[in-house]
Amino acid sequence: MMKKRQWSEWAWDAWCIASGIGVWPRYIEPRLLTTTHLSLPIPHLPTELIGLKILQFSDLHWNAQFSSVLLKQLKWKMQVHKPDMIFFTGDFLCRSCLEEREQLLQLFNSLKAPMGCFAVLGNHDYAQFVTVSAQGDYDVEKTSSKSNISKGFKRLFHPVTLTKQVTTRAQQVGLHAGLIELLAETPVQLLHNQTKLVSCKGTWLNVCGLGEYTLGRFDPQTAFQDYNIRYPGIVLSHNPDTIEPLRQYPGDIILAGHTHGGQVNLPGIWKRFTCIEHLEYKSGLKEVGKKWAYINRGISSVMKFRWFSLPELTLITLQRG
Ligand SMILES: [Fe+2]
Repeated sequence: MMKKRQWSEWAWDAWCIASGIGVWPRYIEPRLLTTTHLSLPIPHLPTELIGLKILQFSDLHWNAQFSSVLLKQLKWKMQVHKPDMIFFTGDFLCRSCLEEREQLLQLFNSLKAPMGCFAVLGNHDYAQFVTVSAQGDYDVEKTSSKSNISKGFKRLFHPVTLTKQVTTRAQQVGLHAGLIELLAETPVQLLHNQTKLVSCKGTWLNVCGLGEYTLGRFDPQTAFQDYNIRYPGIVLSHNPDTIEPLRQYPGDIILAGHTHGGQVNLPGIWKRFTCIEHLEYKSGLKEVGKKWAYINRGISSVMKFRWFSLPELTLITLQRG
């Protein structure tokens, strides 16, 4: 059911317009979808996979307020880039609420990639929403009447220090039945601590998807059980704090999201909204030992407000390193 807008959200929009300074981050930047093109060298890449185009998108944060302008751009760019494979790195929903189901279904049914579409869940995609609590734990968010605006201001003036602890109740949150059912009606294959060996242009490619770190579901031991080290591999994990533990597992490219590139990407401000353990994994391409990691800035966000962090698609072309 669509949530009614609160007075603080109307007041926030009025301020954004009246101040002038708020027009860009509230109404323009969140609708400017960009594509980052990368060409990544992979050692021993089979000849058949040279030139393979993989497209990553992340953090859709679908809800009733999702911009129709952004949606049109997303659908259009997905087709124009003609990817061989599509990867979604989590946060389909906002705070575990499935709104405007038919439109979301239509979007995922419009994805076209001959070698398949794969996805993992983010912290907004389980039965209950898990985030950083005021105490700094990863915990289930209490249902509150507070608007996103009040929550945003609270985080701005009361920064939290991460304890890196997942509470027992967060660990007990189940999968989101509605979202799982919806994905089953689309070409998207959900990977939850699982590897699929995908037939690709006459050879094979491992695609490994991890469960969400902030719910204690990140289980690489299980996820990599079926990984075949004779072939290259792409690893999907929503939270970039998993990049460090993933160093010791196989895989050539790790794709992550979650941070929205800092979202309000101003010095001294972004860290208050983007609570991650490894600040160096805010966004972009990283070389992690012999692997690559890419942290995508995402498509949207719960609070539709972005500054110096444009929405992003990543188009990666594989090369032999
Ligand atoms: Fe997100």
